Amino acid sequence: MTQHTILKMGDPRLLRVARLVADFDTPELHTLVADLLDTMQAANGAGLAAPQIGVDLAVVVFGSDAPNPRYPDASIVPRTVLINPVITPLGEDEQLDWEGCLSVPGMRGMVPRWQTVRYTGCNVLGEPIDRTVSGFHARVVQHECDHLWGKLYPMRMRDFSQFGFTEVLFPDIGAAEDD
Ligand code: NI
Repeated sequence: MTQHTILKMGDPRLLRVARLVADFDTPELHTLVADLLDTMQAANGAGLAAPQIGVDLAVVVFGSDAPNPRYPDASIVPRTVLINPVITPLGEDEQLDWEGCLSVPGMRGMVPRWQTVRYTGCNVLGEPIDRTVSGFHARVVQHECDHLWGKLYPMRMRDFSQFGFTEVLFPDIGAAEDD
């Protein structure tokens, strides 16, 4: 298990459409997932996608078994490894809320997301995952899977007056936790 350097916005590898995983339960895939979980945990991230460590595969990890110090008010999202995901919005409702990203360190922006989505995909063994979720869980999934289509959250924003440095927007949180 290895902690990787997280690529930052501006790196063209963050703009690729990730390749689908073809072979499950391989040593290489287990290593990638372990590295993603390690790297996410070390950075206190809500989630992490393979492209963020330079790996061109449709693999994301998110959630934790304890509250996230970067999002202490958010409900707990179960730790999930999601491969080859497909997201389907359920209904027309959107929700605006603040997001950060480990590839956009030190900043937060107000991002519209679908309120409720169904997501499907596989775990590392190739077993199917099929969930319908709302709120923060739905937001995290949409943010992480966006990394697989080459989208960073500023590319989803509509109002750039609500984009800024974490230490200015949220002086109580401080910048250190975001970088
Ligand atoms: Ni991100």
